[in-house]
Amino acid sequence: MRVGIFSDDTAIGTVAADLINELYLRKPDAVLGLATGSSPLTTYAILTERVKEGRVSFAQGQAFMLDEYVGLDLDHPQRYRNVIDREFASGVDFPSHAINGPDGNAPDLVSGAALYDRSIAEAGGVDLQILGIGSDGHIAFNEPGGSLASRTHVGVLTEQTRRDNARFFDNDITQVPTHCVTQGLGTIMEARRLVLIAQGAGKAEAVRELVEGAVSAHWPATIMQMHPDAWVLVDDDAASALDLADYYREVWEKSRA
Ligand code: F6R
Repeated sequence: MRVGIFSDDTAIGTVAADLINELYLRKPDAVLGLATGSSPLTTYAILTERVKEGRVSFAQGQAFMLDEYVGLDLDHPQRYRNVIDREFASGVDFPSHAINGPDGNAPDLVSGAALYDRSIAEAGGVDLQILGIGSDGHIAFNEPGGSLASRTHVGVLTEQTRRDNARFFDNDITQVPTHCVTQGLGTIMEARRLVLIAQGAGKAEAVRELVEGAVSAHWPATIMQMHPDAWVLVDDDAASALDLADYYREVWEKSRA
């Protein structure tokens, strides 16, 4: 695992955007894995600028979203498909049909989830997956207690996640859906590179478990320790509970020199 600890969000976003930039220069038809939520917003803003400046293009690329709420109206502003369009896709040059997301309104959610999993494989798999982490240690919407080898599936959100996400729903937890469709941990682990972004003290415990805890279903993100190319980019607050933070800083400096 490569752990980068930064004092501000622009530095995190620049490192993440550089990794994506390098990928698309090397492989213009690469498949990008998209996370929703606040963690990657600076990365998306930097990439949007770079597309405008002609430094990177997604015109031959494809993208797969991690997850979706079940049952939100198609035009609901917090439906993840709409969030990604607003926060990223509308500002960059992916062809419109090239952004894929799980269908949270499919008449048969279980078959829809299996179909989505297959479509990722048929696209050749994800080259670089952007991830955030929940304060309960989820990645995508893989909540504690699930299989570490799961495929895309229908899940139930924890109350903690619904409370955390209520800020996007008028601070009203009753408006936050109870169910989701999410890529499974097994699906995510097949991506060729994982890049997780976390900011703020609210993520410190989850980041400590992710980097230094035992691999367990209690903290689903810990499965990333088993990935050969996982990057964890955090700010000082999110890194504040790490035992070995100084060592990770030293390793980061020395491996970049
Ligand atoms: C969203 C997703 C979630 C979020 C996580 C953190 O697609 O997969 O795992 O990344 O809940 O959310 P933020 O970034 O809003 O703190």
